[in-house]
Amino acid sequence: QAGQGVKHFLHIDDYDNKTIMNILERAAEVKAKLKSGDRSFKPFAGKTMAMIFTKPSMRTRVSFETGFHLLGGHAIYLGPDDIQLGKREETRDIARVLSGYNDVIMARLFAHKDLIDLAKFGSVPVINGLTDYNHPCQIMADALTIIEHKGYIDNIKVVYVGDGNNVVHSWLRFAAVVPIHFVCACPRGFEPDPTTVEQARAKGAKIDIVNDPMEAVKGADVIYSDVWASMGQKEEAALRMQRFQGFQVNEKMMEQAGPQVLFMHCLPAERGVEVTDGVIEAPNSIVFPQAENRMHAQNAVMLHVLGA
Ligand code: CP
Ligand code: NVA
Repeated sequence: QAGQGVKHFLHIDDYDNKTIMNILERAAEVKAKLKSGDRSFKPFAGKTMAMIFTKPSMRTRVSFETGFHLLGGHAIYLGPDDIQLGKREETRDIARVLSGYNDVIMARLFAHKDLIDLAKFGSVPVINGLTDYNHPCQIMADALTIIEHKGYIDNIKVVYVGDGNNVVHSWLRFAAVVPIHFVCACPRGFEPDPTTVEQARAKGAKIDIVNDPMEAVKGADVIYSDVWASMGQKEEAALRMQRFQGFQVNEKMMEQAGPQVLFMHCLPAERGVEVTDGVIEAPNSIVFPQAENRMHAQNAVMLHVLGA
């Protein structure tokens, strides 16, 4: 079979605790080197990466392209109009053609099945840059940021407030391998995928899915928020705006959590909708270090899948 033995990065819990923690340690090491101005580490010299985007992006595109370049490689951006995955050409054909040119493929897609097909039919590592189902690179960056700010990640209480979406699915799968307490507070009808919850719990994850955010945030180390209508759901924005009343992360909710709490958001944020301007701009908001860490976490993910 094509690509046998190839390491992909599709879901966090495809890896065990030790591997995930090693990737996070490596991320911190390479970050320190880059932050010191040292540009001598070029493990991707002579390597190329194809980056397929069927959705918009700022962080994912810029952090992957910059990170791969800083470590010596060349990344190629393929926007929604270039490949037209599934429209101009089938995913299984794209996977094999790109595998002939590139050492690694990063993809941001709608259907998760298309990502799985890239990995299945290609013969090079595939990295998940977000699908409708999950967003594992985001949660690797989030974990790195929590470790930097708290000094540790084990037993951290992360309370996600909002839609039970792709970001939540990656938190659930992170909780399946790293011992955190993950709480998702969402309106009824917007809970995360029950199979994912069940499978994470079966692996020992400590997870609560609740509908009362003000109760949930008590004692949280992190309150985490994301847009109420994800990419591909923007036509539901008005309806969601009504259904998510009470789920805005505001000053009152932050205060309810206690003085230890930090605010995180994967961004882009709709200020004044899922989070207030004041919460994003407050001293305990770490959204910009979090965004920067996308690059550092992903550098380590790329080093891992490329065995560099
Ligand atoms: N957080 C995140 O993935 O941002 P982009 O959509 O800008 O890539
Ligand atoms: N849940 C959001 C995350 C964006 C990074 C979306 O899928 O649009």
